[in-house]
Amino acid sequence: MKTHRIAAIPGDGIGSPVTDAALSVASASGARLEVTRFDWSCETCLATDAMMPADGIDTLRGFDAIFLGAVGWPARLPDHVTLAPLIRMRQTFDLYACVRPARTFAGVPRPLRRDDEIDLVVVRENSEGEYVDNGGVVAAGTADEVAIQSAVHTRRGVERILRFSFDLARQRRRRLTMITKSNAQRYAYVLWDRVLAELAPHYADVATDKLHIDAATLELVRRPHTFDVIVGSNLFGDILSDLTGGVTGSLGLNPSANLDPERRAPSLFEPVHGSAPDIAGRGIANPVAAVLSAAMMLEWLGEMPAAVAIRGAVASALAAGNRTPDLGGTLTTTQMTASIVERVAG
Ligand code: NAD
Ligand code: IPM
Ligand code: MN
Repeated sequence: MKTHRIAAIPGDGIGSPVTDAALSVASASGARLEVTRFDWSCETCLATDAMMPADGIDTLRGFDAIFLGAVGWPARLPDHVTLAPLIRMRQTFDLYACVRPARTFAGVPRPLRRDDEIDLVVVRENSEGEYVDNGGVVAAGTADEVAIQSAVHTRRGVERILRFSFDLARQRRRRLTMITKSNAQRYAYVLWDRVLAELAPHYADVATDKLHIDAATLELVRRPHTFDVIVGSNLFGDILSDLTGGVTGSLGLNPSANLDPERRAPSLFEPVHGSAPDIAGRGIANPVAAVLSAAMMLEWLGEMPAAVAIRGAVASALAAGNRTPDLGGTLTTTQMTASIVERVAG
């Protein structure tokens, strides 16, 4: 059996306990992981003035995968400084496909009145769009201050994420919904519309439709069970993946994979959620999002039986009533993790 070299960046707040949980479930699954931890956190930044060493990206390049807990301590350091390395990793390694599944689980209360099963995937363009570091400020701090930040959407970038999404839809229920705001933003998102129209005939077996981002937020509350694969730009995918977490029960359940589908660089796996300063240090973070991110990592690394075992263990632990406070339960992170580990190992 192959040993996979993993770079783990636990980060801040609940990032650390959920990383420990994910890695302990991963090792209980039988996969062989050699984990190197990097303490690239706000604490480190306060002590050294840097979130990540200058050669951090080169260091990561040598690993088979990267696992990140969560970063951010907004009370002490500005988010646009501390989160910059994460965005740099995604862009430098060209991890252009961000895959964010969201599903309902037996045993987890639903925040919406409907009780239909939700099983969808948000695919987020992860390399360009609204997240390109492109802009500037003039007359800073004066009454005449001007800030400009321009998004960049390339035909190549749009086409590759749409093709990825069509291919994913083919492995699922063959429905693809593209999210834009092309009724108001007439250059960038109209390019998305044109590329979709060009590609759709080549994927005639996939039913496609389009929603503007405002309508999409409404429909994801009104009829979330009807969605299969949802694709959108970097910012829209970010927003929608918090919403899809919310409608399935808690952001504490939602994993994500930042993939380089061409496998030129290590892919990065992390929960959708952040460092949750409001509950950090209390031992009550839900570890499921991180645990399911580890399952996505193992699947990517070719360890499908381990990934399937972890997903089954999570579903069975939740169905048996094991719940952290975000799901209305009373278990601690450690107890919830133990309920999953015993099912993976058993
Ligand atoms: P957040 O995702 O950290 O928290 C939003 C809400 O969800 C909070 O009420 C939190 O308690 C709850 N929550 C999130 N994860 C949970 C879990 N596993 N178990 C139980 N409850 C959970 O979002 P935020 O508060 O907007 O951001 C906090 C910090 O995290 C900021 O610094 C932000 O920039 C950063 N952030 C980092 C990442 C990342 O590292 N990938 C992602 C998102 C936000
Ligand atoms: C996410 C996060 C990040 C993003 C932030 C922390 C920069 O919200 O991974 O969803 O917007 O990509
Ligand atoms: Mn987000």
